Amino acid sequence: MLRFDFSFMFEPNTKGGINEEEFNSVKQIISKSVDRVVKNRPAFVSVVFDRSHIDSIEDIRQWVLSFDSLVVVGIGGSNLGAVALANALTPLNWNHLSKQERNGYLKIFFLENVDPDQSAAILDEIDPRKTLFNIVSKSGSTAECLAHYQIIRSLLQLRGINTTEHLIFTTDPTKGFLRRVANQEKIRTLDIPENLGGRFSVLSPVGLLPAMACGVDIKALLDGAKDAYLKCADINVEKNPAAMIAACHYLNKKKGRNITVMMPYSNKLYSLADWFRQLWAESLGKKYSLTGEVVNEGLTPVKALGAVDQHSQLQLYNEGPDDKTIIFLEVEKHERDILIPSTHKDDDISYLSGKTLSTLLKSELTGTERALANNGRPSMRVVFPTINAYDMGQFFMYFEFTTALMGNLLNINPYDQPGVELSKKITYSLMGRKNYEETEFAEPSKKVV
Ligand code: PA5
Repeated sequence: MLRFDFSFMFEPNTKGGINEEEFNSVKQIISKSVDRVVKNRPAFVSVVFDRSHIDSIEDIRQWVLSFDSLVVVGIGGSNLGAVALANALTPLNWNHLSKQERNGYLKIFFLENVDPDQSAAILDEIDPRKTLFNIVSKSGSTAECLAHYQIIRSLLQLRGINTTEHLIFTTDPTKGFLRRVANQEKIRTLDIPENLGGRFSVLSPVGLLPAMACGVDIKALLDGAKDAYLKCADINVEKNPAAMIAACHYLNKKKGRNITVMMPYSNKLYSLADWFRQLWAESLGKKYSLTGEVVNEGLTPVKALGAVDQHSQLQLYNEGPDDKTIIFLEVEKHERDILIPSTHKDDDISYLSGKTLSTLLKSELTGTERALANNGRPSMRVVFPTINAYDMGQFFMYFEFTTALMGNLLNINPYDQPGVELSKKITYSLMGRKNYEETEFAEPSKKVV
């Protein structure tokens, strides 16, 4: 079960942190926001209680496991949650293990960016005859996803491989190009619930299929999310981790701390910070309030990796502008550990000998947290006792709920993304898509050096 430690968000542990009076002043509005979010029953909550999604994955389990590799084709919310799950819950060298070492589960690859070097390298590595291609797009129309889809489809056709047997579409239940093709060609599909936005979709088939394919216990994942929701729904702020995170960020924002740094002390959890970055940025970065005023709201999410970024970012975090709230992710017990042997008697090195790498990593986290507190910089810890499916499910629910609360507190709609849609339309126009010729966008004046 995840634990949340807010000690260093508050005074006196962190000078300039939140004081009791400030905290008490927002408790009521946070409780009201909790109540509002619960009453609205957002789609990201409904999806984890809807048995049909897990059933739809179980129905195709045997077919999926008959392949050697899964290539997930999707971008943004149709990709980041699945990457976070795969990296957290499989060994970091998963794709280099044999099928036996993988207990029969699939290697997993992600075609996200349309960087030809990256895409070509992935396509070189897989054997299409042994590969299932999962084309994931809520809208069924995103250019990056559909470009990759066409490349894959023609690759399969050129090699004489049955496309219907090697493709699955994860998309809107009724609308969009992918749904039309699936209906015409009887390609297998999984549904993304109609009102569920991409960045909130990790606990739908978008994340569940890739997770199942690489051996994740998806039932435990959803159980974690459901149990977390019960805590998220508690209007007692001090007993509700999501409400506490929202309260801290809301108050810190009032003090000019507009940047949220998520810093896992774990390579396995680093992609989780990518998932969070999209959730926080796209949900809260909004031009208009719910009442139509221009507000240009938002908190800028930044990802950092402990201990690596202590040697890159920490100087700034400690002594630069006091504009950040730091969220550390800690793993109490890593899956593997390594003892540092004794090779020299010299005092400059012997203090490390006999300790483990995880002990060193933990001390680095504590050192960073305390140094930040000394400089009056607030932080909190999310503690993973181990990295497992249940706790990952909890994490997703807590941070989705926090994001919904923040949307409520900032009086913006956290579920739309007009800024993303505009850039999609301009791309369509530049690429010559029919009906997008008239899309208006700024032409730069020539200032090339
Ligand atoms: O959160 C969102 O809605 C977006 O980031 C989308 O996930 C992303 O743009 C991909 O869209 P789609 O799933 O429609 O291809």
